[in-house]
Amino acid sequence: MPINIRQVGPCFAGEVEGVDMTKPLSAEEAAAIHAGMDEYALLVFRGPVLTGDQQMAFTLSLGEIEPPSKASLRAKDDYRLPDTFADVSNLDKENKPMARDDRRRLFAIGNRLWHSDSSFKKVPAKYSLLHAHSVTSKGGNTEFADMRAAYDALDDDTKAEVEGLVCEHSQIYSRQQCGFFDLSDVERERFAPVRQTLVRTHPVTGRKSLYLASHAGGIVGWPVPEARLFLRDLIEHATQPQFVYSHKWGVGDLVMYDNRQTMHRARPFPENEVRDMRRTTLAGDVPTVEQVA
Ligand code: OGA
Ligand code: MN
Repeated sequence: MPINIRQVGPCFAGEVEGVDMTKPLSAEEAAAIHAGMDEYALLVFRGPVLTGDQQMAFTLSLGEIEPPSKASLRAKDDYRLPDTFADVSNLDKENKPMARDDRRRLFAIGNRLWHSDSSFKKVPAKYSLLHAHSVTSKGGNTEFADMRAAYDALDDDTKAEVEGLVCEHSQIYSRQQCGFFDLSDVERERFAPVRQTLVRTHPVTGRKSLYLASHAGGIVGWPVPEARLFLRDLIEHATQPQFVYSHKWGVGDLVMYDNRQTMHRARPFPENEVRDMRRTTLAGDVPTVEQVA
């Protein structure tokens, strides 16, 4: 069956038919998916629940995965999944929903703020592949915003103002925004800020996009409150309904999104229900700007 993609979002987001995710993609199929990602920035695949090995093999047929890193507050011996997966569930190692006031949970729900995956890493992520094993009876959508359309819709003065700006990204800053300050010195050290350009240019299409995230807590050379307010205005602009696709999850869905061209956020759901989402992540190839020591 040939691969077919039809648009499902307002200005981006496609749904793919004709792909069997239980097997790695052939070279021709992978090329069609990359071309679809260049155009739509997000692709929805529907299928059966994949084993870890199947999701990994499917992911690896599109590129190299991001090296494992400690981006959550889970200790190594507390992992439910292999460290090559991001555990985006609300579950502990025994597959039980974490208590409402569990520190790991309170850190993790920071993903309800708009963000781009791994923007707090020197080489940020390319694609994320988020796969649903269990979904909740209500809530729990993931919303995605098209940062190319958001860039295009800026007025000329703002386009000139954002050009060349460099932001500092850290999970410390995103968690400050939701009132989570409970980090040890070791964790603060691990979450030290990195620099990212505010405007990115897609290497294939040449389209510009705003590279924003709640992890961005400063702009190099700007006073902090002014930078944060400017970034907040840009995020508000970029997440207007005409730029947003909201995905309502079904079991077996896999959503692949390009972190270079989109932002996303999780929406709340009943905290006593199981929401089991597993993410594999393809590595970006270069830092967006030179880092300082
Ligand atoms: C992620 C993420 C949102 C969600 O996997 O990176 O932000 O709805 N997920 O689970
Ligand atoms: Mn995310």
